[in-house]
Amino acid sequence: MRFLLTLCLLFSAAIIPASALATGAHSPTVPGKLAATLDELAAKFDPTVCADCHEQIYEEWSQSMHSKSFIDPRVIQTWRTFIKQGLEKEAGMTKMDMKNNCMWCHAPYIKYADDKLVSEIIDMVLTAADDPDESKRDAAVKQLSKLNLNCYGCHNLFAVKDGYWGNKPEEGAIYGPRGEDDPEEAKHEDFKTIKSDFLTTSKFCASCHHGCPDSVPFSQCPTVYSSYKQEYLDKGGKETCQDCHMKPDDPDDPKSHKFKGAHDKDFFAAAMELEIDADTTQVVSHYKNEITPTLAFNVKLTNRSGHGIPYG
Ligand code: HEC
Ligand code: HEC
Ligand code: HEC
Ligand code: HEC
Ligand code: HEC
Repeated sequence: MRFLLTLCLLFSAAIIPASALATGAHSPTVPGKLAATLDELAAKFDPTVCADCHEQIYEEWSQSMHSKSFIDPRVIQTWRTFIKQGLEKEAGMTKMDMKNNCMWCHAPYIKYADDKLVSEIIDMVLTAADDPDESKRDAAVKQLSKLNLNCYGCHNLFAVKDGYWGNKPEEGAIYGPRGEDDPEEAKHEDFKTIKSDFLTTSKFCASCHHGCPDSVPFSQCPTVYSSYKQEYLDKGGKETCQDCHMKPDDPDDPKSHKFKGAHDKDFFAAAMELEIDADTTQVVSHYKNEITPTLAFNVKLTNRSGHGIPYG
């Protein structure tokens, strides 16, 4: 995250290094008709369609930070500051820069918004953060929540390598860890289910949690992913992001979509092992001619997470 905030500052100074613009493969041209209203956009990517059959996963996702990726109060306030201090003050920056360089991880469906709608979304962010009327703020947040990262973002737009701007995923299909070999037994009648090997790799998470090309090291792009690679994988760690962050509470359950992290007290606590040895000893003050009984602590802190702590 430190990198991402640096990214914000870089943007606001209008110095945008090529490496900060993620893969550099951004191609804002999208085939087909773009949506002119938020409701039109939301209807195309409505996760409640999946809730009927995937009730547990839908519930877990609703509790996760991913379901608040655009409207979390911290995130909204930062967008506001970025718009006011960067976008509106820097010559040469346009609202479309927000779509192309900034909002795509937090609000993936913006890819399919036309220019007028992008402009409306930016105005809505300002209303959500600053309008003196609470009901107007709440209404704006409610509208913007339709842009949060949901099932389609991960299971379609980001599910194949170079997918998001590369337009690689098949429109309307759902990508999963197994796919459906036998179309006769298709579980999804209304859409195709396709196997994606990329989805189960740590590189999939890096599409958003890194934002730099894969080869850029921690020293230049300090993210949770580069920390994972250098401090965990290179030192013999074997688990993927999914192994730790999607482990179900019950092994018979599907992969957990709660994506527990620093916001979950128990998950966070399990990341650290604290050993404290205390010995009784004495402190002798030569100056005052006093001896005071005291304790000496030997503290050993072990990090059991797959990267540096904290990264939020
Ligand atoms: C009519 C019921 C139904 C609906 C609606 C539905 N699914 Fe499924 N889905 C299933 C069943 C049954 C399976 C197979 C069991 C499993 O893997 O959970 C499945 C499997 C999956 C898989 C795993 C595929 C794989 O590779 O093995 C994914 C991912 C998935 N669904 C996502 C979605 C998404 C996203 C939506 C909404 C757009 C959705 N499903 C809507 C019933 C449904
Ligand atoms: C499309 C972009 C995207 C993808 C793909 C993605 N994430 Fe995220 N993730 C986010 C955003 C944005 C947030 C921050 C949401 C917020 O702060 O409200 C987040 C938050 C999280 C959090 C919560 C962090 C906290 O502070 O508690 C965890 C854990 C997490 N992601 C893990 C993963 C893992 C593991 C994967 C891969 C399986 C993944 N994410 C894939 C965008 C993404
Ligand atoms: C490459 C994807 C990507 C881009 C582009 C991106 N973000 Fe993020 N952002 C993330 C992810 C992933 C997280 C969650 C990080 C975590 O919890 O460790 C996040 C977290 C945040 C947070 C929460 C901060 C915190 O302290 O927890 C804010 C605010 C934010 N981003 C604003 C922005 C702004 C403003 C921009 C545009 C300048 C931007 N982001 C561009 C992926 C991205
Ligand atoms: C942040 C990304 C992300 C989001 C959002 C997301 N998924 Fe997933 N989902 C994954 C990944 C990654 C896997 C594969 C995990 C693995 O097998 O390692 C997965 C697996 C699945 C599976 C197969 C589970 C199993 O254990 O067989 C289903 C079904 C599924 N997702 C449905 C959904 C539905 C429905 C939604 C929306 C409510 C959703 N997902 C939202 C990333 C996501
Ligand atoms: C060995 C298990 C493990 C692996 C592998 C792992 N994590 Fe974590 N992660 C944790 C634990 C435990 C925490 C909570 C402690 C903390 O905040 O670091 C956490 C916290 C997080 C957070 C919350 C913000 C933060 O850093 O405090 C994000 C985001 C995250 N991980 C993303 C990822 C991504 C993306 C990957 C893969 C590149 C990954 N994690 C790999 C165990 C793991």
